[in-house]
Amino acid sequence: SRSISLAVIPGDGIGKEVVAQGLKVLSAVLPQDVKLETKQYDLGAQRWHATGETLPDAELEQLKEHDAILLGAIGDPSVPSGVLERGLLLKLRFAFDHYVNLRPSKLFPNTESPLAGRPDIDFVVVREGTEGPYVGNGGSIRTGTPAEVANEVSVNTAYGVERVVRDAYERANARTRKKLTLVHKNNVLVHAGHLWKNLFDKIGEEYPEVTTDYLHVDAATIFLVTDPARFDVIVTDNLFGDILTDLAAAVSGGIGLAASGNVNPTGEFPSMFEPVHGSAPDIAGTGKADPTATVLSVALLLRHLGFEAEAARIEDAVTADLSERADSRTTDEIGDALAVRVAQ
Ligand code: IPM
Ligand code: MN
Repeated sequence: SRSISLAVIPGDGIGKEVVAQGLKVLSAVLPQDVKLETKQYDLGAQRWHATGETLPDAELEQLKEHDAILLGAIGDPSVPSGVLERGLLLKLRFAFDHYVNLRPSKLFPNTESPLAGRPDIDFVVVREGTEGPYVGNGGSIRTGTPAEVANEVSVNTAYGVERVVRDAYERANARTRKKLTLVHKNNVLVHAGHLWKNLFDKIGEEYPEVTTDYLHVDAATIFLVTDPARFDVIVTDNLFGDILTDLAAAVSGGIGLAASGNVNPTGEFPSMFEPVHGSAPDIAGTGKADPTATVLSVALLLRHLGFEAEAARIEDAVTADLSERADSRTTDEIGDALAVRVAQ
C-alpha cells in the first residue's frame, strides 16, 4: 500500500494556522489505504530566539529523508531581515536543489481580483529557484561610508538555465495551449539575458508544438494586468519570478490563494510546498488568515507525489468553496469546509 512521509515546517505567524488546515484537508482527501506519516520541525523565529539556530545540518539531513515538505511561512519582525530568509528558506531551496519554483495562477470565482469577470486566467510561472541574485554572491566595500559600493551578483549558469527552461517547455507541451513565454530583460542585462534567450531558442527546436514568446520583465507586468489571458507558461529567473508571482497573485484572486511548489524534478531531494504569502504577523492569532493558499499547495504536493485525483479533488473543492464563500469565516472554518468537501 502507498504511504507518504511528510515533513511539516509550520514556521512563524499565520504559518502555523494555515498549515494546520492544510494537514486537515490532506488527511481528509487521502484514501484509507494511504498511510500518512507527518513529522513536525520546529524551525523559525522562536527557535532562532531560543537557540540562535536557523537550520542545523542534522535537521537538514532528517528533512532529506521525507517524501515532501509542507512549509507554512517564516519571518518575524523580531528577527533581523535576511536571517531566516537566507538561513532557513533559501537554505532549503538551495540544499534540496529546488530549481523549479512552480507558481500557478488561476482566476477563481468570487474573488476580489481587479480582473474579476475576465475569463481564462490560467497560467503558471516557472521561476528558477537556485540561481540569479539569490545566491548571495556579492559584497560591499567601504561599507557604511559615503563611498560604499555594494554588489549583488546574479549568477546564471548554462546548466542551471537549461534545466529550468527545459522543464518549462515540458510543462507547456503538456498543456492545451502549449505556449511558453520567456521573461527577462535582455536589452539591459545583456550577459544573463542572452544566455537565457539563446538557450530558450535552442531548446525550443526540440518542442516544435510549443509557441514561444519573449517579453522584457517591465512589459510583462503590464500584460499581467491588461491581458493576463495571453500567458500559459512563463519561465523566468529567480528575482523576476519573485516579483511577477506576487503581481500574478494579486491580480488573480489575492495572495490568500496563491500556492507554490519548490520542486526538485529529478526526485533526488524532497520537494517543498508553501503558500506564496508570508507569516503576516499583523493578523497572526486572529483567525483571519485564509488557509486556501496552503490547501492549494497541498494539492500541488499531492500531484507531485502522483496523487492526481486527490489533487484535482482539492482544487475542485476550493473552486466550489469560493463560489459559495460566505464572508468572515475563520481560518478554521474554511479548513473545515474544505475538508468536508474533499471527503465526499
Ligand atoms: C517568496 C518569498 C521569498 C523569496 C523570501 C521570503 C526569501 O518572497 O517565496 O516569494 O524571495 O523567494
Ligand atoms: Mn516573494
